[in-house]
Amino acid sequence: MPKRIDGFSKRSKAEKIDWIVTHFTHDPDQFRSLLEQYWNEDTELQRIHDEFAENTISNFYLPLGVAPNFLINDTLYAIPMAIEESSVVAAASKAAKYWLNRGGFKAQILGTEKVGQVHFTFSGDTAWLVKAFEDIRLMLLGDVKDLTRNMRGRGGGISQIALRDKTDVLEDYYQLHVTFETVDAMGANFINSCLEQMADTWSKEIAKRLKAEEKSEALEIVMSILSNYVPNCLVRAEVSCDVSELSEDTPLDPQTFAEKMIQAVTMARVEPYRAVTHNKGIMNGVDAVVLATGNDFRAIEAGVHAFAAKDGAYRGLTEAWVNDGIFTMRLDIPLALGTIGGITRLHPLVRFALEVLGRPTAEELMKITAVAGLAQNFAAMRSLVTTGIQQGHMKMHLLNILNQLGATSSEKDQVVEHFKTETVSFSAAEKVLQQIRQS
Ligand code: MEV
Repeated sequence: MPKRIDGFSKRSKAEKIDWIVTHFTHDPDQFRSLLEQYWNEDTELQRIHDEFAENTISNFYLPLGVAPNFLINDTLYAIPMAIEESSVVAAASKAAKYWLNRGGFKAQILGTEKVGQVHFTFSGDTAWLVKAFEDIRLMLLGDVKDLTRNMRGRGGGISQIALRDKTDVLEDYYQLHVTFETVDAMGANFINSCLEQMADTWSKEIAKRLKAEEKSEALEIVMSILSNYVPNCLVRAEVSCDVSELSEDTPLDPQTFAEKMIQAVTMARVEPYRAVTHNKGIMNGVDAVVLATGNDFRAIEAGVHAFAAKDGAYRGLTEAWVNDGIFTMRLDIPLALGTIGGITRLHPLVRFALEVLGRPTAEELMKITAVAGLAQNFAAMRSLVTTGIQQGHMKMHLLNILNQLGATSSEKDQVVEHFKTETVSFSAAEKVLQQIRQS
């Protein structure tokens, strides 16, 4: 069976490519040369990328853009964003400029706590387990001293450890629930190493006690792993200005604009279909910064959406209100980010992105990322309640359409000029291109 292969990982890159293009594409030569085009043979750069993951056969490019003019807590930033969706960087830049003239963004850290858990089952008496935990607690912390030394030196470490009884949701289910401070590291490896050591100490100590007391109950460790749900690793981003300052380039008067913005944000607070898309717009900004700075966007996505559902219903993450004539829009978002460790020093473009951001601490990066999310949401809301989203979106998408239609650069210039005053659609672009070609 040619599509099945053993020992794939041990093949050379050329063999891997050969196998994949031969068995899974209709045009092996074309796809082989495509993969080669995206790959920098015999370079240090390629070696670094190859070693990030396994079975690498090429590189997968995403555009890296920059959104300038972000005034955050009175410091100006140009924010690097890695994203494929047209109009996101443009929208961020537009929102940045808009708020630059209205005092900028304010951001503050509400918490930096990370979480890890040892999940286990215990068939005995809860009170006995609680007492054993109190006796063993210090030993659990002592046995990870070597692992936590460096982190403690940087001001982090384990902040709390608790025994949690989960038997109301699953028979015999308990956890050691551990909270960490990981300073500038995202800290996944640190947390997981500590948890595995704690699980080992915990199971051995409990087994000793059960044996000494001739008890037949058993404690079984199921798994030890960090949680990406980090409701207390939270950052707040906010913009505010006098309602009278709100209008600019919109057909609405400032009061109506403020009201519509509040209505739109409130709808996302109370209605899940709308909330999901609303939060998707926020994540357009957040993910683009998370990716550009080498952080784990899957972890961030999982944590953010869990946070959005923390009240038992999925809600939009922003709030907006007017108080004493002041319009405010706010985003509270959990972001467990790091600026050291992981690929932050290894990926050259991540190093570049962090350099552009002024080599931020993790807390600073949390603020910048939250602001990118809020800016994106503000820009989306502003378009949605005024012109509609398609006007700006299709303008930005026009180049993708023209590339699909095989337009030359001079044709592209002419079509773009034409659509400065017209509504963009695929068929309209196709028609204009045809006219240019015929004339
Ligand atoms: C598109 O990527 C994002 C939006 O749909 C967000 C929103 O609807 O709030 C425009």
